[in-house]
Amino acid sequence: MKITVVGTGYVGLVTGTCLAETGNEVVCVDIDKEKIAKMRNGVVPIYEPHLDVLFDRNIKAGRLTFTTSLDEGLEHGEIIFLALPTPEDEDGSADLRYVLGVSEDIGKKIKSYKVIVDKSTVPVGTADKVQATISKHAGCEFNVVSNPEFLREGFAVDDFLKPERIVVGSSSDRATALMQKLYKPFVRSGNPIIIMDEKSAELTKYAANAFLATKITFMNEIANYCEKVGADVDKVRVGMGTDSRIGKRFLFPGIGYGGSCFPKDVKALQKAGSDANYDFKILDSVIEVNETQKTILLPKIESHFNGDLNGKTIAIWGLAFKPETDDIREAPSLYMMKGLLERGATLQVFDPEAMPNIKKRFEDTLSYASGMYEALENADALLICTEWSIFRTPDFAKVSKLLTNKVIFDGRNLYDTNDMKAEDFTYISIGR
Ligand code: UDX
Repeated sequence: MKITVVGTGYVGLVTGTCLAETGNEVVCVDIDKEKIAKMRNGVVPIYEPHLDVLFDRNIKAGRLTFTTSLDEGLEHGEIIFLALPTPEDEDGSADLRYVLGVSEDIGKKIKSYKVIVDKSTVPVGTADKVQATISKHAGCEFNVVSNPEFLREGFAVDDFLKPERIVVGSSSDRATALMQKLYKPFVRSGNPIIIMDEKSAELTKYAANAFLATKITFMNEIANYCEKVGADVDKVRVGMGTDSRIGKRFLFPGIGYGGSCFPKDVKALQKAGSDANYDFKILDSVIEVNETQKTILLPKIESHFNGDLNGKTIAIWGLAFKPETDDIREAPSLYMMKGLLERGATLQVFDPEAMPNIKKRFEDTLSYASGMYEALENADALLICTEWSIFRTPDFAKVSKLLTNKVIFDGRNLYDTNDMKAEDFTYISIGR
């Protein structure tokens, strides 16, 4: 099939590349000339495991091409994916400037039947707005479909190629049939393509993300309470999670959720609720608890050093908002680093992928280590903010030799508390 993807951010690029992988002819459109030039030379502009292999293969096969011309893109595709940014407005709502701007152009330019697919996470009612915007100008038939993505950073290729479900909001049989044909190769396992109305599809995405953020936040509160009463959250987690109604996943407590989706989507749903005269009380609490959780280790670090972090050196392992990504958006590490710097600490930091992004933001206020052990040299303590696999089984003898104090603050509960006791570390984690 002939597919066009407008917007080559994280979602657009993964969508375009994976759709090319099943034999579709995909044209990706972006206004960023430099980015398009790079991609034409085979350079993947983001870090996402396995994407480079697929990208390279499909470019070489001529199924994946790039252009800055929206006209060219609209000429090409029968299905036009909109994978445009929906940044957070000042009031927390999603800003539809880009989605509706491109819809205007689509209305003016299309000359034959098209299915316009909203892939971005957009508030309930956006498909109607896109429909109305295109209708103002369009001289041919078209349908608007809502098709939210459920891609996790770091697993996006796998999530796209083997989705647990595909949600399609469509009220046109013609558009639905085309979407089913497009996605058929991805659901050979029998996983469903769930067809519903556009508004329900739009809300499904927000509801799923807000639920997961709530699940994590609930567990963070249980962890905080465990500390008060001497229970072990790891045991509570396993005890709870084996109940299939609860499930084992997304029950890991830590220093809060971050990233480009959860924080933005929870706030957007809360705002959308209040616009519709509905007060999402549970989301108010989720936002509030997560804010506190991001710096929950700060007072503990401070009190370990008798309230004075001035002149102390803290090593930090992990800066990305989660492993397998270089993304630092809303990462808890940012809040921890800000708090530690304000208290006069010196920070020696290391992350396997996120160092360039951190350098851009913190410039020379941090000391950037070339490796995980280098970060520990003469540091007074180690703080872990992201659970990268390489931090899971360090050489503890080396760690204790390099640190001036044998103390670890672990925001991701990487180590067994008994092991740490045996290694003679002061070990402060979450809810244990
Ligand atoms: C999320 C959704 O999972 C995905 O379906 C959606 O399309 C986009 O948003 P992503 O933001 O990439 O994906 O990351 P995810 O793996 O879901 O983690 C989100 C945050 O929750 C991270 O900060 C992570 O550290 C945190 N988290 C996750 C926990 O604190 N505990 C957990 O048990 C799971």
